[in-house]
Amino acid sequence: MDTGKTYEVKNLSSASQGKNNMEFAELNMGALLEVKKRFEKETPLKGIRIGLALHVTKETGVLVRTLIAGGAEVAITGCNPLSTQDDVAAALADEGVRVWAYKGETTEEYYRYINNVIAFKPHITIDDGCDLVSEIHKNHPHLIPDIICGCEETTTGIIRLKAMEKDNALKYPMIAVNDNKTKHLVDNYYGTGQSTVDGILRATNLLYAGKTFVVCGYGSCGKGVAQRAKGLGANVLVTEVDSFRALQAAYDGFRVMRMADAAKIGDVFCTVTGNKHVITLDLIKKMKNGAILANSGHFDNELDLKSLNDAADSHKQVRPFMEEYTLHGKKLFVLGEGRLVNLAAGEGHPSEVMSTSFCGQALSCEYGVKNQGKLPSQVIQLPAEIDDEIAALQLTAMGIEIDEMTDEQNEYLNSWEEGT
Ligand SMILES: NC(=O)c1ccc[n+]([C@@H]2O[C@H](COP(=O)([O-])OP(=O)(O)OC[C@H]3O[C@@H](n4cnc5c(N)ncnc54)[C@H](O)[C@@H]3O)[C@@H](O)[C@H]2O)c1
Repeated sequence: MDTGKTYEVKNLSSASQGKNNMEFAELNMGALLEVKKRFEKETPLKGIRIGLALHVTKETGVLVRTLIAGGAEVAITGCNPLSTQDDVAAALADEGVRVWAYKGETTEEYYRYINNVIAFKPHITIDDGCDLVSEIHKNHPHLIPDIICGCEETTTGIIRLKAMEKDNALKYPMIAVNDNKTKHLVDNYYGTGQSTVDGILRATNLLYAGKTFVVCGYGSCGKGVAQRAKGLGANVLVTEVDSFRALQAAYDGFRVMRMADAAKIGDVFCTVTGNKHVITLDLIKKMKNGAILANSGHFDNELDLKSLNDAADSHKQVRPFMEEYTLHGKKLFVLGEGRLVNLAAGEGHPSEVMSTSFCGQALSCEYGVKNQGKLPSQVIQLPAEIDDEIAALQLTAMGIEIDEMTDEQNEYLNSWEEGT
């Protein structure tokens, strides 16, 4: 470990590799670079301290550079013990950013690093999963009066924030970046779809074609995973608890069944529900010899690994990010310790995806500052016109032009008299 006054990273000498990776990411993050260019001119975040608990990846590095270009001071830690790209953390430390993160950090370190970010007294918090906000509310409420707003990146974080709001426990405004339509479509659906399938591939190098691949949860993420696994030739089964989502899965052409039935026939299982103990020990006992278990939901509690660990006859690591459990004579394989498999065994979402999500983060910070003192201490949406601006920025980055409505069409859509 390399430690300094403002950083704790695995290996500072990997900084040049991290910078190469960030530069490559920038090539595919044209939309965010447009925001950065404007931020450099207008410095809308001048004098603002931003504390982040986000996956420390090359794309997050580009977001950090964007916020700094806007005039902010930044402190960052990870939001998952297995998702940090160590060379990127080193590059940020080398650029003078306050950064505490490494891949494989312990739970104790995870919270110590979050507390380092809190000690920086952020005016804005950027979270992925709500751990930073939760820690501030639980243990550092005296800092809240100086906090302008927070921005939340993922579904699980929004669920926790809404629970706080319901209990009257939420004490500063939270912008639900996750709920931007651009974020939800590009990140949860396309991003999680591709990167989850990729993470499982990197860990196992299995052939998808012909495999029975069970997707638990048919939300935005689950839909993406199911589509991409199908695209590689897998027979995809879906399990759900919501009848509407289950109906959609069935109409999308997937077999839908109870988990107790899917457990007996699946080769690969992937949870993406945001819920707890979706795959229990009883279900694992029904699985075939050689079954593979992965999770791409936010927390590592979707698979009940504690019960598996207690019941297993033996347990060993057999490949990077792959552990073998022997249970009643069968071998079962768990990827990435049941943590987000796309980040643990892969590199997370592609840069193009994070460009869209992080336009949401950067523009939310700007929106929060512009509306300081006017936003309620609730979970709020970024205005639709900013969400649309993100889509337009991404289209421009892709070199795509679209049509504009004529005055006649505008008038037509705003009138009610004209009929058959
Ligand atoms: N891996 C990533 O990079 C990544 C990216 C974005 C979101 N996420 C996380 O993925 C999870 C899902 O996000 P989402 O946006 O798809 O959420 P969502 O709410 O749209 O979908 C979750 C689905 O799971 C279903 N579900 C709940 N309990 C279930 C159970 N016991 N069995 C089967 N289905 C069940 C729900 O009915 C729902 O349809 C969240 O934890 C989110 O934070 C991960």
